[in-house]
Parts: sequence; C-alpha cells; structure tokens
Amino acid sequence: MNTEIFYPTKIIFGNNSSTNSKSFKNLFKKNILIVTNNILKKNHLNKISKLLLRKKNKVKRIFIKDNEPIDTQINNNIIIYKKFDYLLALGGGSVIDFSKALCIKMSFPKKDIWDFTTHKTSKKIEIKKKLTPIIAIPTTAGTGSEVTPFCVIENKKYGKSTIKCKSIIPHQAIIDSVFLKSLPRKIRAYTVIDALAHSIESFLSKKKGKHEFVEMFASQAIILIIKNIKKYLTSNNTETLNHVARASTLAGMSISSGGTCAPHAFGQALTNFVKVPHGYSIYLFLFKILILTEKKHLKYLSSKIGFNILTEARKINNLIKLPKKIRVNKDIKKKIMKELIELRIQSIRKYPANIDLKRINKILDEVLIQ
Ligand SMILES: [Fe+2]
Repeated sequence: MNTEIFYPTKIIFGNNSSTNSKSFKNLFKKNILIVTNNILKKNHLNKISKLLLRKKNKVKRIFIKDNEPIDTQINNNIIIYKKFDYLLALGGGSVIDFSKALCIKMSFPKKDIWDFTTHKTSKKIEIKKKLTPIIAIPTTAGTGSEVTPFCVIENKKYGKSTIKCKSIIPHQAIIDSVFLKSLPRKIRAYTVIDALAHSIESFLSKKKGKHEFVEMFASQAIILIIKNIKKYLTSNNTETLNHVARASTLAGMSISSGGTCAPHAFGQALTNFVKVPHGYSIYLFLFKILILTEKKHLKYLSSKIGFNILTEARKINNLIKLPKKIRVNKDIKKKIMKELIELRIQSIRKYPANIDLKRINKILDEVLIQ
C-alpha cells in the first residue's frame, strides 16, 4: 500500500525567526488577530506587532488566561463576529488551542464549540469548510500544538475533551527557541516530558492507519530529548534549546498521525479532577506505564533510537526531581477510575501492555495518595 502524507503547515525554524520580517512575508494589508497571554514578555509581542503594522496590516490583540479553552469563553466571545484574514497565536499550547477553537467558532457562530469535540455528549459536528488560517508561534516546547489537528476544550460539567480536525492544523508555525530562555526549570521539565510522551506513545500506539513516518518523527524526537534534556533543564545553550524545540515539533507531527494512548489517558483523566499542569500529569504516569510495555515493543523502540529506552527513561525520571505522587481524596480516585473505564479504555488498549482493571487500580494506587 502507498503512503500518502499531506502536511499543511509551513514550518519556519530558527533563532529570531519570530521577529524576522521574512517569516511574515505573506502578511501585507491583512486583518490580523493576535491571541496571546499575559505571561509573555511584552517586548516580544510589541516587536511582532510593529513588524506587522509596518507592512500595513491591521492588528488586534486579545489576552487570554493560560489554561485550556473553556467552552463558555469561546462561545461567548464577541471577537468571533469580527472578520480576520489570519489568527496569530503567540503562546504555549493553551493559546494555540484557544486560537484553534476561536477560528472554528468564527465559521460556526451559532454552534456550541463543545459539539465539535469527541466527547460522548457532543453532537460531533464535522468541519468541512475552510477556516481562518492560523500562524502559530509556540513559546514553550512540549505540546506540539503548532502542527497538530487537536484542540483541547474544557467544559465545567463534563471535563475536558478534544476536537480532532485537519482544518485546525496551523498554516504556518514559526519555531523560535528564544522564548524557551525565560522558561523556569519546572515548566521546562513538564513540557519536555509531554513531548517525550507524545513521541513514545505515538511510536508504540497500535492505532490503525498511522503512517510509516510516525516512527521516524518519533524516534528522532526521542533521541533529541535523551541527548539534550540534562542540559536543557540547567542552561540556556542555544543549540540545546533548538534541539528541544525541534523534538517538540517532531513529536507533534508524530501524534498527528500516531495519536497518544495510555499515559495521556491517565494524565487527562487526572486533570479532569485535579488542577495540575498537563505535562506534570503525564510525568506522573509515563514511567509507571513504560515499564509495563511488552518486551518486544521496548526492544524494537530501543533498536530504532540506539538507546535502551528503559535505562534512559529511568535516568530522565531521576533527573526531573518533581514529586512522583499526588495527594487526592478517595472520591477523586473513584472518579478518575470511572473516567478511565468509561471514557478512556479504548485509548488505554492502544498501548502495547496488558493494562486491565486490576492494573489500572494499581497504577492509580501508586500515584494517588490519600
Ligand atoms: Fe500532551
């Protein structure tokens, strides 16, 4: 069978690419909405705005809180009634996801954004029209959202769910590792683990129809992370930052076809009930699940990366030095268990390990303390 890959994102990679006018050469006399957050250093935002204004573009800026897009924030946002030629998402995964959700809502102003998610309560509306194009400038290295067809939406009643749709893949991604310089160690740790999980999960996933390049994207991302994580957590060496930024984007390209599985299923179930960063929730489960992986799959992955994945994962786990357990009450544990069984069991089954109900319980017991 032939492999068919269409990748709609133009990727511009390099130092200071986010403030180089060549990166925005298509933007002339356009109407642009910049979506960003308050965490970002203002001088960078101002530089980009100035650059766009010099090219006679009209620029409007909105600042969002740094969490995943909550459905009501999207549904009730009056900005959706204005017309824009481009959305420029400048921020971490949440800002990029917020922009993806906004551009869906701009084309479907009367629909509830929740009805585009895969949740069982959603109407699962399919998007067939072209949406306002997104230019994504990620300021963290981890989610890979700048190249993925995914967008996480939170609903107060039902928790989190994902929109999966090719139309929301950004048209352009500008990867400039300058933003990583100001990230504290803790955020670097969460986010790089998220990228590592994306690559390991998509590599190992038994998802049908994933294309053969998943293994190449994922194994390259894993190698880059193994070789650079130590230095990344402690220094601002430009080449190291560039390698981690590359790994994150490659991991994003990898999950776009390979998807995630058990570690993300556990992490996402946890964050539905406990407020912790996405990357940290993945950190709590990734290594616990990795050691359960069927030996032949570990061997195959190790042969592709040229490292023993378990040995390297152990080193990384020791290096991260974040709490490996989290305190929750009994009720929360029950809710997480219920969610895993009722909503996420398919995702868990895509992982090559025998994770039955007893094992799910054991994993939760090891991570959640009461
Ligand atoms: Fe993730």
